[in-house]
Amino acid sequence: MRQMITVVGSLNMDLLIDAPQLPLPGETVRGRNFRRSPGGKGANQACAVARMGVDCSMLGAVGSDPFGEELIAGLCADGVDVSAVRRVHRTATGVAMITVDFAGQNQIVLAAGANEVVSLDDISRHSRLLRGSAAVIAQLEVPIPVVTAALQEARQGGAIAVLNPAPCRALDDEVLSRCDWIVPNEIEAGQLVGRTVCSPEDARLAAVELRRRSGGAGIAVTLGGEGVWLETREFSGLIPAFPVRAIDTVAAGDTFIGAFVVRLVEGATPEEAARFGCAAAAIAVTRHGAQASVPHRAEVEAWLRER
Ligand code: RIB
Repeated sequence: MRQMITVVGSLNMDLLIDAPQLPLPGETVRGRNFRRSPGGKGANQACAVARMGVDCSMLGAVGSDPFGEELIAGLCADGVDVSAVRRVHRTATGVAMITVDFAGQNQIVLAAGANEVVSLDDISRHSRLLRGSAAVIAQLEVPIPVVTAALQEARQGGAIAVLNPAPCRALDDEVLSRCDWIVPNEIEAGQLVGRTVCSPEDARLAAVELRRRSGGAGIAVTLGGEGVWLETREFSGLIPAFPVRAIDTVAAGDTFIGAFVVRLVEGATPEEAARFGCAAAAIAVTRHGAQASVPHRAEVEAWLRER
């Protein structure tokens, strides 16, 4: 039977400017190279799944405006099934204003727009899709009750339930307990456990706590240029990042998650899946944009063969 992964989450149009440094509060920074590019954590992850060669469905919402049409067309071009993406009248499509500094770090301000009206009805209407998936991936740019219900449907159908708690919001342990995998970055992991995470040892401690609070989910804390801390029943350790010169880290985490979950669904061990995800993310950070930076599977495999 063909495997299929469903992503429940956001679609945003990203409006990007490069700047020498990220602005301080009240500061105006002279930037350059304004561009717009399809993004949204959910859509980026769906794009990554599809480019890794696995069938993918996107469940979410866009507004009735040209940005929405462009985002849907982009996902269709990658072969993502968008029949569960609702077009919402008199509502704007989500927009993310992104500043990227010359070291590739970014700062994002989001106007959620239609992402905020994804509803429990959407989840009920697409219950068969969620239950029939090999994995369901959700983030936190759509309402938390929707995420909770999607993870629950995934669990009931026997799908791998994956939560990327981004951007971080207060979450009950009950939500965490519906996950098979929780994949935060270091900032989100820190926010979830209430202390700073800035080293692999901090990540290990946060991962152990999240694993306990979730009742045994696998934890993958992405640590940018350091790699990924993996915490499962069988494995606890750092999967190192591949050294590259990053020019734009937007959607690096999304690329990792899409590639990581694809390999999990294919039966790879978490360590193998994380290494594959790190390779995909390493390629993504050498390119500009969100979906524009996500590599195809053949590129990731060729890249890994050279290492
Ligand atoms: O993870 C990167 C994404 O976060 C961007 O594409 C932006 O849309 C925000 O959702």
